[in-house]
Amino acid sequence: MRFTVAIDGPAAAGKGTVSKAVAAHFGFAHLDTGLLYRAVAAKVLVGADPVAAAKALTAEDLTGDLRTPAVAQEASRVAVIPEVRTALVDFQRAFAARAGGAVLDGRDIGTVICPEAEAKLFVTASAEVRAERRFLELQGNGLDVTRAGVLADVQERDARDSERSTAPLKPALDAVVIDTSDMSIDEAVAAAIAVIEEKR
Ligand code: C5P
Repeated sequence: MRFTVAIDGPAAAGKGTVSKAVAAHFGFAHLDTGLLYRAVAAKVLVGADPVAAAKALTAEDLTGDLRTPAVAQEASRVAVIPEVRTALVDFQRAFAARAGGAVLDGRDIGTVICPEAEAKLFVTASAEVRAERRFLELQGNGLDVTRAGVLADVQERDARDSERSTAPLKPALDAVVIDTSDMSIDEAVAAAIAVIEEKR
């Protein structure tokens, strides 16, 4: 059975947590597509050419220390380059088509990568709430960050992701929007599962 769930939204909206929980609930595979851009960014930060790095990307590159603010910022820079995005399309579509169902989360899954996805969600929250969550997460990982710095980072990345001309961050016309600003994780997951149940 092929069933694709596309989950898009801005940084730190809860996409990752919701996607993992949804995948576990339905027994689907999960791909965090942000990791692809982060892996390219990590190579660029040590001198690689972005397009060459994207073309050469393998599954092994998706591990390691990719969850740092520096890598996130560079990821949103390489993500503006159309050739980088194109080089990553086949991997994502092959993942989406795997038997047994797949959840992909990112920025352009419902609009560009999987416009035919059976279920599309756009998970969002206010910039302040997202920055606070990301601040606590980074601090919890032992990083030396400030609230103001994380908020500025999130806003800069949102602007770059929303304003780029290729595959900008925006909800697909047929996506269901879930605003998690005032929701607990359990509430957000339950809302997402309810939307997907309806499409099955
Ligand atoms: O989701 P995450 O914060 O890990 O993504 C890092 C960056 O990768 C985003 O800010 C965005 O610029 C880029 N990205 C993208 N398209 C995706 C996933 C991530 O452009 N599908």
